[in-house]
Amino acid sequence: MIEIEYKNINKKYNQELFAVANANFNVKKGEFLVLVGPSGCGKSTILRMTAGLEEITSGEIYFDGKLINDVAPKDRRIGMVFQNYALYPHLTVFENIAFPLKIAKESKQNIKKRVDEIAQIVDLADYLNRKPKELSGGQRQRVALGRAIARKPDVFLFDEPLSNLDAKLRVMMRTEIINLQRNIGATSIYVTHDQTEAMTMGDRLVVMKDGIIQQIASPAELYNQPDNIFVAGFIGSPQMNFFEGKIVLDNGIKFIENKSGNVFQLSESNFRTKAKEQNATLGIRPEKIMISNEMDINTFSTRITNIEYLGFESIIYFKTDDKAKCLRTIAEISNKTGDEILIKSEQNSIIIFDSNGQRL
Ligand SMILES: Nc1ncnc2c1ncn2[C@@H]1O[C@H](COP(=O)(O)OP(=O)(O)O)[C@@H](O)[C@H]1O
Ligand SMILES: [Mg+2]
Repeated sequence: MIEIEYKNINKKYNQELFAVANANFNVKKGEFLVLVGPSGCGKSTILRMTAGLEEITSGEIYFDGKLINDVAPKDRRIGMVFQNYALYPHLTVFENIAFPLKIAKESKQNIKKRVDEIAQIVDLADYLNRKPKELSGGQRQRVALGRAIARKPDVFLFDEPLSNLDAKLRVMMRTEIINLQRNIGATSIYVTHDQTEAMTMGDRLVVMKDGIIQQIASPAELYNQPDNIFVAGFIGSPQMNFFEGKIVLDNGIKFIENKSGNVFQLSESNFRTKAKEQNATLGIRPEKIMISNEMDINTFSTRITNIEYLGFESIIYFKTDDKAKCLRTIAEISNKTGDEILIKSEQNSIIIFDSNGQRL
């Protein structure tokens, strides 16, 4: 198992724009690290620079302390899996998995032995003579996984490998990939734009936007302690609720919503820095807002605009300052769309951002 370190990595494809700007992070030995962010934020670029398929504009990448910027792709001991599988259509499953071993000039005997091992691991032993077109999407993806592990890579790179699969299969393959990675133990970087996939698979997540790393943390820390409003909004579904307003210091710390005048009572514990009067955004997750029977602090009245019944839970939509918000609850709901309700926000779960979106 190896450790990967990225130092001041920049990538420009053309003169003006940074596809990746000043990226600094590391991947620990045997870790499953997920790069996540909207399309175009630079995830694939980082992966391709790691594999040596794309030149690094400036900065260094180290494998176990060894600079690999100028190491040829074939000498980096990397296994890579893509969204479109990239299988050879005219070759059988056996030949597809064997391909990198053949290139490495392994003996016929060794190739047969290794492919049989791999077929067990990725559960394709009965399909070795088929062509890719005779396989399901999940099986094709397993061939791609098998091929990627053929040469016992030190590093496993995944670029949106599940995007072409239907929803049910995608969820199953998440577990398969994680189990495979644990078995092999290769240090892994997994790219996805899907925050649920990222949250369920990653030991740690690197959240990116416009080529810039926004936060690096475990799933729980990203969810509970986002550093900025982008991360807060990107992680979690339904999204965190955001209220626009200002902080007022007046008999304690208050947040007053702009148009409605709704007042939230806060304390220093809602802040990382000392609270001061300024324009701000208040954030609270949908499960931290409750329907209430009585007027209390951090409680105000609103009208239900829609209810989504999901079986286990319900999402109740409402508006404040003309902006849609929601709460989620597992309680039985007796209310209907259009009803006036009281909602109460759990004060400990409120977080605050400054007008630049940085956590206060
Ligand atoms: N070969 C290329 N030439 C020019 N620009 C590119 C090239 N590949 C990617 N880009 C640009 O770099 C940025 C990051 O792209 P990419 O790493 O593919 O993002 P992601 O994988 O997160 O969707 C985007 O703005 C994209 O248009
Ligand atoms: Mg990409």
